[in-house]
Amino acid sequence: MTTKLFLLFILFSHAAISLSEKCNPQDNKTLLQIKKELNNPTFLSSWNPHTDCCNLTWAGVSCKYKTNRIQSITLLVSDHAFQIPPSIGNLPYLESLFLFEFPHLTGPIPESISKLTNLRFLTISSTSISGPIPNFLGKLKNLADLDLSFNKLSGTLPPSLSQLNELVRFDFDNNKLTGPIPDSYGYFKNLKTFTLSLNQLSGRIPLSLSRLDLYYVNLSKNRFQGDASMFFGSNKGTGLIYLSRNMLAFDLGKVELPKNLTTLDVSHNNIHGNLPLGVENLSVLNVSYNWLCGEIPKGGNLQSFGVYSYFHNKCLCGSPLPKCK
Ligand SMILES: *[C@@H]1O[C@H](CO)[C@@H](O)[C@H](O)[C@H]1NC(C)=O
Ligand SMILES: *[C@@H]1O[C@H](CO)[C@@H](O)[C@H](O)[C@H]1NC(C)=O
Ligand SMILES: *[C@@H]1O[C@H](CO)[C@@H](O)[C@H](O)[C@H]1NC(C)=O
Ligand SMILES: *[C@@H]1O[C@H](CO)[C@@H](O)[C@H](O)[C@H]1NC(C)=O
Ligand SMILES: *[C@@H]1O[C@H](CO)[C@@H](O)[C@H](O)[C@H]1NC(C)=O
Ligand SMILES: *[C@@H]1O[C@H](CO)[C@@H](O)[C@H](O)[C@H]1NC(C)=O
Repeated sequence: MTTKLFLLFILFSHAAISLSEKCNPQDNKTLLQIKKELNNPTFLSSWNPHTDCCNLTWAGVSCKYKTNRIQSITLLVSDHAFQIPPSIGNLPYLESLFLFEFPHLTGPIPESISKLTNLRFLTISSTSISGPIPNFLGKLKNLADLDLSFNKLSGTLPPSLSQLNELVRFDFDNNKLTGPIPDSYGYFKNLKTFTLSLNQLSGRIPLSLSRLDLYYVNLSKNRFQGDASMFFGSNKGTGLIYLSRNMLAFDLGKVELPKNLTTLDVSHNNIHGNLPLGVENLSVLNVSYNWLCGEIPKGGNLQSFGVYSYFHNKCLCGSPLPKCK
């Protein structure tokens, strides 16, 4: 009798443990598969099959309230050598994937990522992933934030990304990207941050980009040529414009500064004309190493910026540069 009761007790307590387990069995299987594909790295040692993947003891894993499906994966900083495991695509409810500072993370962005159609935040940054920026990222229709900065991605920018109607931030800084900005990028619907600095991008910036109302644009340190006046306009909400170290050539005197603009760096280009109306409202300005002319207006911060914001132009003059002749 007591033995029977004891057995019953064991049966019930086991049932209770598995019932209280929140982790979805499919997600549990996928995460353990990922761990295996990565050769059980120490940074995943907390992914223990005998514990609940939803109880916050699994490093970087969080489950959605109520559904208990894996909602986000955030993994940071390790020297472990690996590639992005294709099985990551088997987490259909994933909304956020964040991989940061893995210098020995190599290989391409796997196609299975295109199955993560609920993804809203995708960051793979400061890694050694290489290969092209794949076209299939254009399938991630819910993506709001795409950060692929500080990697070794090469090739051209895929035109398909402009299909990402929810995209607010596009950050591809510091890769090895070449070729022009696609014309289609003027048709992003919600884009506010557009940064491509430190690449080898070239050609003329498409006029279609005048359609965008960006808050922050950074195209510094590329090989862009010609006009960049499409980023300006008094009706835009832009706060920061960084275009330094390109081969841009346009008349800066003809642009209308956005009303909210605080920061303008166009240094090291072939830009001509005078300083535009309203520069005295800026809190950061660098127009050095261009072909500008005319007298620096008085007022605002213009005199306190110092000569290094203005030097190496054709005939810019007046304080803090020498007097105009
Ligand atoms: C997770 O997988 C392990 C290994 O297969 C298993 O022992 C455990 O019971 C599973 N947990 C859930 C919640 O499915
Ligand atoms: C999480 O799992 C561990 C190991 O099974 C357990 O000790 C701990 O109590 C659990 N925490 C929560 C909040 O359920
Ligand atoms: C713009 O890009 C350049 C080059 O990567 C960088 O030095 C600068 O800090 C960036 N500007 C901002 C505001 O981040
Ligand atoms: C300028 O900034 C203000 C305050 O942040 C904001 O309310 C306004 O909409 C901005 N102007 C434009 C044109 O976006
Ligand atoms: C500069 O700021 C002043 C005062 O806020 C404002 O009246 C003026 O319209 C601004 N100029 C430009 C070109 O934005
Ligand atoms: C402006 O840019 C030039 C060239 O890149 C640089 O030498 C100078 O230090 C910058 N000035 C300021 C104030 O940042």
